[in-house]
Amino acid sequence: MKKLASMLLVAGVITSVATADSAINAVKVKADLDKVDNKSSVWSGAKFSDVTLYPQTAIVLNDKKANELNQQAKAIKAKIAAVYNDSKIAFMIKWPDGTKSVQQEGKTDVYGDGFAVQFAQNYSNPKELPYIGMGSDGRPVVIHLQKATGITFEPNGNGDIEHQINPNQTIFFEKDLANYKERVKTVGNADYQRSFISEGFRSMTQIKDGSDQATMNMNYDSKAWSGTLSRSLKDSNLNLDAATIPVAFAIWDGAKMGRDGLKYLAPWTAVILKKGDDTLVNALHGKIEGDVEKGKEIVAANGCAGCHQVAPTDAPSLMAPSLVNIGGYASADYIRESLVAPNAAIVGGYNRNAHSNTPWYNLDNGKRISAMTDYSFLEKGDLDSAVAYLKTLKVGAK
Ligand code: HEC
Repeated sequence: MKKLASMLLVAGVITSVATADSAINAVKVKADLDKVDNKSSVWSGAKFSDVTLYPQTAIVLNDKKANELNQQAKAIKAKIAAVYNDSKIAFMIKWPDGTKSVQQEGKTDVYGDGFAVQFAQNYSNPKELPYIGMGSDGRPVVIHLQKATGITFEPNGNGDIEHQINPNQTIFFEKDLANYKERVKTVGNADYQRSFISEGFRSMTQIKDGSDQATMNMNYDSKAWSGTLSRSLKDSNLNLDAATIPVAFAIWDGAKMGRDGLKYLAPWTAVILKKGDDTLVNALHGKIEGDVEKGKEIVAANGCAGCHQVAPTDAPSLMAPSLVNIGGYASADYIRESLVAPNAAIVGGYNRNAHSNTPWYNLDNGKRISAMTDYSFLEKGDLDSAVAYLKTLKVGAK
């Protein structure tokens, strides 16, 4: 009896921690989804869910001003809906942004607003999803990205703006130059739109064959963006024809110098196409058990802060990703896996040549070995509590 009483006492401090916003319910429609934008009538029957996107604060940038903006950044609350028919799935994401920022040709200090939608190639095990920021070794993701870029000069007309030419560096003068600019304008596409397969930072491969049948749109109105993506449910890179799929979203804010990794990230979010299988929904949106206060002590006692910035008031560290928003964009399972199997999904982090004193991983015959301590020795209860505490690490919304 005495034993039972003390057990109850211990159980008393274990709380359920809500892990994320709710799942998105996709609506099946008859409408053609080949060409969708934010004005399409198909959205009137869609169900919009609240999805919070957190500033990606994992790394310290070389840019002091951008660092400051990123450290002060709040989360963004977006509204996201999905619709699908027999062959396509479409998403609309609406998010507030007080300033319309369009990247401009020839200007390196002006950044464009943008958004991305990310899918996991293999999502059969919700406990082993790819690293949220562009996938990880052996866990590839497909990413669709659109940036507000304005008209770009792309003389070859292939949408190949990486190889765009400054019109003033052509051999043309006067009338020829005017004609050239006119031609470029007509072949230039309005925005930068790309699809990639990625297994982590610096491993993005552009999908150029159009097999994904993806189209994207961005519209700015009343201090908010709405972006849409329509893509095939099934193609050679991806099979989304399942009851529930994990989808992740990213937003860039040009006015906050957002570019590349400097973005806002939503965690893997379950999109429910057909009811019946709750495994993924529970993994990503279910409550988790753990004692947050005890978790805080465990994190303090295990030297995490020796490598990581844990609280926003801790000094930034080059040794490991900052954890100040990890509870926002990472799932509980991902955090747990980071602790008990650091090599399973390695955050690529910095350019290893530029930061050779603080590598996040070492190479052993080409295989990446995380520099992080393996915490699989922690007891299950302590691990639960550490994960519950880490899930609380995130900034509030604007
Ligand atoms: C010796 C340094 C070191 C210590 C100590 C350490 N870590 Fe890490 N940790 C790293 C490095 C380096 C990475 C990035 C490489 C990787 O993904 O494994 C990382 C990655 C992570 C990630 C994934 C971050 C992301 O952005 O996806 C989490 C979560 C994490 N650590 C939590 C912890 C916790 C909690 C502790 C303490 C119990 C801890 N770490 C202790 C070095 C460390």
